[in-house]
Amino acid sequence: MKFDFDEIINRRDTYSVKWDVSKGELPMWVADMDFKTAPAVIKAVTRRAESGVFGYTIVPDRWYEAYIGHWKRLHGFEMKKEWLCFTTGVIPAITSSVKRLTNPGDNVIVQTPVYNIFYNCVENSGRHILENALAFDGKKYSMDFDDLEKKLSHPYTTLMILCNPQNPVGCVWDKDVLAKVGRLCDKYGVKVISDEIHCDLTEPNVGYVPFASVNETCKNLSVTCLSVTKAFNLAAMQSAAVCVPNENLGRVIFRGLNSDEVAEPGAFAIDAAIAALEDGDEWLKELRAYISDNRAYLTEYLNKELPKVNVIGQNATYLIWADVSYYTNDPVKLCDYIRKTTGLFITPGMVYHGDGNKFVRINVACPKKTLSDGVERFVKGVKGYANSCGK
Ligand SMILES: Cc1ncc(COP(=O)(O)O)c(C=O)c1O
Repeated sequence: MKFDFDEIINRRDTYSVKWDVSKGELPMWVADMDFKTAPAVIKAVTRRAESGVFGYTIVPDRWYEAYIGHWKRLHGFEMKKEWLCFTTGVIPAITSSVKRLTNPGDNVIVQTPVYNIFYNCVENSGRHILENALAFDGKKYSMDFDDLEKKLSHPYTTLMILCNPQNPVGCVWDKDVLAKVGRLCDKYGVKVISDEIHCDLTEPNVGYVPFASVNETCKNLSVTCLSVTKAFNLAAMQSAAVCVPNENLGRVIFRGLNSDEVAEPGAFAIDAAIAALEDGDEWLKELRAYISDNRAYLTEYLNKELPKVNVIGQNATYLIWADVSYYTNDPVKLCDYIRKTTGLFITPGMVYHGDGNKFVRINVACPKKTLSDGVERFVKGVKGYANSCGK
């Protein structure tokens, strides 16, 4: 490998959300990585820092070209400049779009278990969540289209938030599934926000299909959120993009982003994104291979040491979704026990709603040494918990 993902970086006392934990604790919860970002990004940001001038920043043509080039190269989808708008984050963009596309009291569909902050975007804006729970057959998740259609047909439903790839269950939705979502949403006049923030983090030989690329229907009813922040570990750079191919819909969404004041870049946001998108391919390829190895390592270790924990086969993200229902129907208790007895900090699945009360989520985007420490703590914690309940 050309890039060093084994390097341990001390993130304590750096104002890191993830690492704001007690001495001896090991955080493997929030979705940020313990790796340095790509060298090209570090170089671009350093250059900007060394200029010593941090005045207002424009969104240059190069930023649009960088997004268009990356999606064409890596995902076979050709976007146009006029479809894109800079935004400070996927969540600010979703909240803003929810406000533009729905009225207070409307229903917004999410497919659970799902990234919990979607609830904030919807409920803090005075809209209702309608859960379309994903179906789980013990091995993988799929969409429950009968239930989806029932919920789409409700007269108060005006929007659906799709998560592709899906956090936390890690599935990449295929073209047929996405086409069916598009067809149903179109039938009931429901718009789709497609959150594709995890799209660059698929398993090495797995591609992802941008929702807007599926067909004209999907293209015309969609607002897609893209970002370099997950794949390049740039969460605090506040740098994302919204892609809206339909001109009239774009006018509504882009005006919303502007009037909500979430369309102005900070000093580093543009340089970081351009560097990641233009010069990050090689680093990204190695990162995906490293994460894939980490996933395989954890799965194998747990299959051996804790065969009753079912680690779901996932095609994307660096998040492990593990069924712990043999041990508990309350993963909060299990996670609290693990944290108290071993210092390992992971997320109980019910945070993500749906069938999350059977699961825990573990972030494996860390050096191998950190991972093996985490996995050992997990095994010790689960065994201790099992003993304490007489399992
Ligand atoms: C599905 C999903 N969307 C959005 C975000 C956050 O996006 P941002 O930091 O750009 O607001 C996350 C972070 O984990 C995520 O998993």
